[in-house]
Amino acid sequence: MSSQQSPLNLPTIDVPPHPEWPSLSDSEKTALKRRIIKLLEQQNAVLVAHYYTNADLQALAEESGGCVADSLEMARFGAAQEAQTLVVCGVRFMGETAKILSPEKRVIMPDLGATCSLDEGCPADKFSDFCDQHPDHTVVVYANTSAEVKARSDWVVTSGIALPIVKYLAEKGEKVLWAPDRHLGNYVQGVSGAEMLFWPGSCVVHEEFKSVALERIKRLHPDAAVLVHPESPQNIVDQADVIGSTTALIKAVSEMKNKEFIVATDGGIFYKMQQMAPDKVLIEAPTAGEGATCISCAHCPWMGMNALQNLAEVLESGANEIHIDPAIQERAVVPIQRMLDFARTHDIGMKEKGNA
Ligand code: 13P
Ligand code: SF4
Repeated sequence: MSSQQSPLNLPTIDVPPHPEWPSLSDSEKTALKRRIIKLLEQQNAVLVAHYYTNADLQALAEESGGCVADSLEMARFGAAQEAQTLVVCGVRFMGETAKILSPEKRVIMPDLGATCSLDEGCPADKFSDFCDQHPDHTVVVYANTSAEVKARSDWVVTSGIALPIVKYLAEKGEKVLWAPDRHLGNYVQGVSGAEMLFWPGSCVVHEEFKSVALERIKRLHPDAAVLVHPESPQNIVDQADVIGSTTALIKAVSEMKNKEFIVATDGGIFYKMQQMAPDKVLIEAPTAGEGATCISCAHCPWMGMNALQNLAEVLESGANEIHIDPAIQERAVVPIQRMLDFARTHDIGMKEKGNA
């Protein structure tokens, strides 16, 4: 395990190595997928997967009538399902959001240890103290947080909707306390001009992108468009042609005329990009420049904890169910629902529904 020390005496974040799953032959994979589909049907369950999970899981979610999406659409899709069980393949905050929105449903995940450096770096007690110190600020938290942190917020946002919501608050003259991703917050502040106070969190995956190496790759591929997720540091965002949520980046690959794309986000997204635009060339933005300590190399180690193998196991055992304290659920659902209502009334993300 490697670790990152956060400033302001926040907890040290243990970043696990990227999990290695035993490789499966084609016939083993087919048999496993069949078993999972049968279990899903028997349990009236649906798969809700993120674009960063591996290609097998994304394909299975699509084949079985589930969804593959960004975190905003995952929340929306899960809440709209009739199915009694949601099987969330992603990281823990995604499973918790699904449960908060649908407390009557059973929500299970392949691995409850699949967390997120943003969530880990924002403990609810310390965050609550921070909010108490700034009572004149509207509290806006990124979806990549615990249920307790969401319960302390006024608004929850995802990367797909953060900018319009903060713009809306700024136009009303509200000051924003933003947590936990300082890079996304910085980007949102730069575009919206909002008065914002930041919690010092970051994503260990996006922090690995290296600006000098990116400049070099851009010189080698002068016609390539650079696509950047806004959890990346400013010097990466500054080099972007498109900055946006995972859905927005996938859309850019299929809609832009460029043949080549340099992509600064988790490599899991290549599955959907390639599916949407098979003739385009995708290049991973560089992570390990000279002297760099590559912690996660553009592959989120927590997203990597989802695989066909543990998905089948969890459906068989019924383990790994998400439970949320009802008092927390009652408070956390309010800012999440506020975000979903804002998305609906402002028609945000709806056109990309389902598959980018
Ligand atoms: P999206 O909301 O863009 O899918 O991002 C979620 C995430 O965790 C990115 O690292
Ligand atoms: Fe969290 Fe970063 Fe992984 Fe996304 S990629 S889940 S922000 S650690």
